[in-house]
Amino acid sequence: MKLLVVGSGGREHAVIKKLLENKDVEKIYALPGNGGIARDAECVNISATDIDGIVKFATDNKIDYAVVTPDDPLVLGCVDALNEAGIPCFGPAKNAAIIEGSKVFSKNLMKKYGIPTAKYEVFDDAEKALEYLETAPIPTVVKADGLALGKGALVCMTREEAIDAVKTIMVDKKFGASGNEIVVEEFLTGPEVSVLSFTDGKVVKPMVSSMDHKRAGDGDTGLNTGGMGTIAPNPYYTEEVAAECMEKIFLPTIDAMNKEGRTFKGCLYFGLMLTPDGPKVIEYNCRFGDPETQVVLPLLKSDLLTIMQACTNGTLSEIEVEFSQGSACCVVMASKGYPVAYEKGYEITIPEDVAPNVYVAGAALKDGKLVTSGGRVLGVTATADTLPEAIEKAYGLTEKIHFDNQYMRKDIGKRALEARK
Ligand code: AMP
Ligand code: GLY
Repeated sequence: MKLLVVGSGGREHAVIKKLLENKDVEKIYALPGNGGIARDAECVNISATDIDGIVKFATDNKIDYAVVTPDDPLVLGCVDALNEAGIPCFGPAKNAAIIEGSKVFSKNLMKKYGIPTAKYEVFDDAEKALEYLETAPIPTVVKADGLALGKGALVCMTREEAIDAVKTIMVDKKFGASGNEIVVEEFLTGPEVSVLSFTDGKVVKPMVSSMDHKRAGDGDTGLNTGGMGTIAPNPYYTEEVAAECMEKIFLPTIDAMNKEGRTFKGCLYFGLMLTPDGPKVIEYNCRFGDPETQVVLPLLKSDLLTIMQACTNGTLSEIEVEFSQGSACCVVMASKGYPVAYEKGYEITIPEDVAPNVYVAGAALKDGKLVTSGGRVLGVTATADTLPEAIEKAYGLTEKIHFDNQYMRKDIGKRALEARK
């Protein structure tokens, strides 16, 4: 089989490596991929948002199955376009990807169907939002409606910050048209859990839970990033919590999407907060999380391609989705200065024996050498029987990888270890 994977991050690298475990896979094209992914797939310089270009490539190259992983092409309708061209595809259609593409949509969906989430108000007018904020409970969270590279949620600890957030999103238009509408929501507290799930629109099969580390600095300090590391499973996500989430969140969400005529097929990501009042949805993503995928897929024992095809075909109930009982830790090695400003172009050396554990996010090939090209350069994942071993192993592997100007958090998994006590 010839496969195509749309995207260029560490997540895509993890998906590609897992797909390659299936013996029927002869070749994978990555559109556009990156310098590190090029080790495992043929990278083709077509942007992930060039829907016409992707469809033309898939048709010309007789692709048997496509996997669309990033949010923007999904929200733009890449899966619909590929399907129209007769190419089976993993990922939600445009009318279902809106669950991530519009916070206003997802909040209204949850309210309509009684799915637990933070209380909220929607505004399409800055004046009205500012007026509301004069008496709104503080802290609060101001969120741009549309996609914003994962940076559209501003947690505001004071009224001034909330006012600034509205101005940033609605007046200065920091996230462009994504900020035409905003959600102002109740500030929730509690541990966060990421649960990625496979669904064919009929059944939902959750993957092993995970924990992201979004802040740039140790001890969860500093700016928000795309994710500095992950561990799985998440110790806060006990069997009881999992059962409650299935009953009150996962199944009702699939059901709600069907009732709205927006059947969701693909990977549905539940960003949850375990509040004193029970688990609540912080956000939905219409795709695999990054860097959650880099700890979740290495623990998957079943064949990924078979599961993906079952999601597409509506036969997910018939197949097994099995995870190992072990743990995984992914440490992200970034460029110093990320997420603000950083230099690139430094040569990266990855020993052969470490390469299977490495998921490359921001690196390019220059004169045959791998060089840094992004803020998050790569993730190193280790699996082991226990979490402490996985963490130790992952950090051990980072020592074997070299590039100048590198930065990583030293405490990935620390909070999880404390939670287990
Ligand atoms: P989002 O982009 O919606 O996932 O939000 C990014 C981050 O902001 C989340 O991972 C949380 O840490 C935080 N956050 C979002 N919504 C809330 C909320 N209602 N209460 C507290 N923290 C939140
Ligand atoms: N790690 C969160 C996300 O992928 O949006």
